[in-house]
Amino acid sequence: MDFETILKNRRAIRDFQNKEVPLSILKEIIQDTCLAPTASNGQPCKFIIIQDRNYLKKLSDESKKNLLDDLIRNPNLPSKQYEARLRDGQINLFYNAPCLVLFIGPKGLYSLDVDCGLTVAYFMFSATSRGLGTCWIGLGAHIRDKEILAEIGVPSDCRIIAPIIVGYPASIPAASERHSPDILKVVK
Ligand SMILES: Cc1cc2nc3c(=O)[nH]c(=O)nc-3n(C[C@H](O)[C@H](O)[C@H](O)COP(=O)(O)O)c2cc1C
Repeated sequence: MDFETILKNRRAIRDFQNKEVPLSILKEIIQDTCLAPTASNGQPCKFIIIQDRNYLKKLSDESKKNLLDDLIRNPNLPSKQYEARLRDGQINLFYNAPCLVLFIGPKGLYSLDVDCGLTVAYFMFSATSRGLGTCWIGLGAHIRDKEILAEIGVPSDCRIIAPIIVGYPASIPAASERHSPDILKVVK
């Protein structure tokens, strides 16, 4: 796949075939992310791979619970728009994907969000080039229960930046609309 095709084919995929993603392929994709630029070449991202659909539902419920608790304390949070979905016990934030990769990193690192964001982009393009679909699930990042964090292997000095679901797409949606880029000025 040439680069333009990869750019165009990458979509947020929320509908997956009932097919596991081999661990060896996930490892190859994660290896590709090592080429991503990071501040001072710090390469701070660490990865947790979860390949258990039932466990993903548990993580989804944990994240939903915490988002709803946050909304009780502060009803003006942006997550308010998703309140009905969060209250629906049937909805799985991870769309019953066969696999979730958590991008995590050290809590105090100033560049962590940007470093992980770029690393995720490499992950998504590498996955796309192998016929896989991905979607960043920001709503699924609110996992706080200490027992669960220990169970999935998040060290206490790390935080979750990006939960990325991965799988073989059942369907690939058409590209959502993009406006033309806002180039404010060219200074010569
Ligand atoms: C930081 C971030 C958080 C996101 N969180 C969610 C989410 O919680 N649930 C979801 O279904 N999609 C989520 N998405 C996917 C976006 O909705 C999607 O990328 C966007 O609509 C553009 O569509 P495309 O990726 O197909 O181009 C997220 C994307 C990003 C970059």
